[in-house]
Amino acid sequence: MTGRFISFEGNEGSGKSTQIKILADCLAALGRSVITLREPGGTPIGEEIRHLLKHSAANVGMTPETELLLMNASRAQLVRQIIRPALVSGAIVLCDRFYDSTTVYQGTGRGLDPAQVQNVIDLAVGDTRPELTLFLEVPLEVSEERRRHRSGAKPERDRFEEADRAFFERIHAGYEALAKAESGRIRRIDATQSVDDVSAAIWSHVAPLVT
Ligand code: TMP
Repeated sequence: MTGRFISFEGNEGSGKSTQIKILADCLAALGRSVITLREPGGTPIGEEIRHLLKHSAANVGMTPETELLLMNASRAQLVRQIIRPALVSGAIVLCDRFYDSTTVYQGTGRGLDPAQVQNVIDLAVGDTRPELTLFLEVPLEVSEERRRHRSGAKPERDRFEEADRAFFERIHAGYEALAKAESGRIRRIDATQSVDDVSAAIWSHVAPLVT
């Protein structure tokens, strides 16, 4: 039995972590083996890279190229240490962000060359690619409002939160373009709906793969 690999994408504040938890609980209740992961992170090496990317005082002035390579160093480790063995064992892998985040954040957001970004992604993941990606969509204003709420409650500084509005506008547009270009794999979910309605929409895409 081979497993299933499903990724979740969306702006900050789109509700990905809540929905991943709901789906993981639901799959576990059906007796399926489920692994939930986040990027950057998900391994001891990846979590240290995550700290460096987001919170470390040493990350001021990090260049876009460094950011691209660190994201994909974390990913290369996660793919080989966790995702591939989990898929071989037949588990369902749910990942909070995967390479679409790199395409959008480092490509569209930071303005790196798309072909170079793609080469780095290819090196990191090889043929380990999600068969389904759930894109939780919220308007930019909703994402901003949810981010404002959360940043007050966060103990640590987050370098990504320091980007200007134009950066988040590019992220928003980048996701839209990617979802259109890869409409077979990337399924758009209106994440302004209630939590229950969003999880029902997600289930309608996941059920055919797992039941
Ligand atoms: P989050 O886990 O709170 O979503 O934080 C991860 C941050 O890292 C988020 O701002 C998106 C960003 N990111 C990238 O820029 N590129 C990537 O490839 C990934 C996985 C995340």
